Amino acid sequence: MMLRGKKILLIISGGIAAYKALDLLRQLKKQGAQVRCILTRGGSQFITPMSVASLSEREVHMDLWSLKDETEMGHIRLSREADLILVAPASANLIAQMAYGLAEDLASTTLLASNRPVMIAPAMNPMMWENAATRENIETLEKRGIQMIGPSSGEMACGETGQGRMSEPENIVKAVIHHFQADKPLAGKTALVTSGPTHEPIDPVRFIGNRSSGKQGHAIARALADAGSAVTLISGPVNIPDPEGVETIQVQTAQEMLEACQNALPADIAICAAAVADWRVENAARHKIKKGKDLAPPALTLIQNPDILREIASHPTKRPALVIGFAAETENLEQNARAKLQKKGCDWIIANNVGMEDIFGAQENHVYLITHKNIQEWPKASKENIARDLGLEITNYFLNNEFETRKTG
Ligand code: C5P
Repeated sequence: MMLRGKKILLIISGGIAAYKALDLLRQLKKQGAQVRCILTRGGSQFITPMSVASLSEREVHMDLWSLKDETEMGHIRLSREADLILVAPASANLIAQMAYGLAEDLASTTLLASNRPVMIAPAMNPMMWENAATRENIETLEKRGIQMIGPSSGEMACGETGQGRMSEPENIVKAVIHHFQADKPLAGKTALVTSGPTHEPIDPVRFIGNRSSGKQGHAIARALADAGSAVTLISGPVNIPDPEGVETIQVQTAQEMLEACQNALPADIAICAAAVADWRVENAARHKIKKGKDLAPPALTLIQNPDILREIASHPTKRPALVIGFAAETENLEQNARAKLQKKGCDWIIANNVGMEDIFGAQENHVYLITHKNIQEWPKASKENIARDLGLEITNYFLNNEFETRKTG
């Protein structure tokens, strides 16, 4: 699942290679990508909108002048919401429209209106590919940073032989994966992040919970995904959206969170940012507990919840290479955080002093990074910036460790 959560806009233009776009679409989805499709009028001469819609599991966009399409998902949104626009096959005509900035139909207008990276897989007759006009257009597009995939050489559908065959779908998928991995220092790594509170039921409508907005954990999940890691975020009940590019699993209780974490292993990195309730009610009532003047308030017997961080850090076979916990302390921050490193068996602790400032639900955070070797105080910063800096520390950790392994191994 190398494209998990990636949003790709696939533009299928006219040419016999359009039939291969169906296989391409299937393979992109198999890698976890969310694919929206534009099918040009030419493309629809070769494959049907129905097959594209069935494979993408979304409606197909075809018409710039469709009132329905434009009100539901206009061409501007279509062009901006994708992480990547992939044109496959890219016909000589569409390439020319792109080179000249024409906006004649939905595909060319979307491409002109977009600020997203574009990759194209040209497909055409070898003479059309060799034509000076096409050569100049391709050069223009390359100068603008549009990435070419293929075309390859071989026998064409028209019987001629030469360069102009659309690259095979698996090669296009490889190029797309490569695109997403460039400048991604954590590419190939997998991460598990817990976030938010847990809710432990007293009865079907009442619960015990912790204060946690989930902002820091969600920001970390997003930062790791931006750095190229495949991220599973296991989140308790929060009021913030799922981060982009991350597989999010929603849970309610600590036991559900532990089970989801165990299912997400093996992973290279585990970060436990969730505020897990330490206790749960021993026998949660199956029906709403009645209150009344004559009824005594219920007595709750609490029992210990599993310590998810410790379970992950002490996993006999699937312990991640780097396990990071959080500590919210009100006093003796360093001493308590060091004790927590030992007790939990984790590698790093991110500690904050909740006694000094109200960090719950705030946008900013003031933290210390405590490892077995040293302690760093980080300046007060937004939770997004802290997440990004933590991503950099994690990258350095793997760079140094892998370098050490190469030296000794
Ligand atoms: O023990 P304490 O709650 O202070 O430790 C905080 C760290 O342990 C956090 O990283 C939190 O996510 C994790 N934790 C956990 N499961 C628990 C309690 C805490 O994973 N039941």
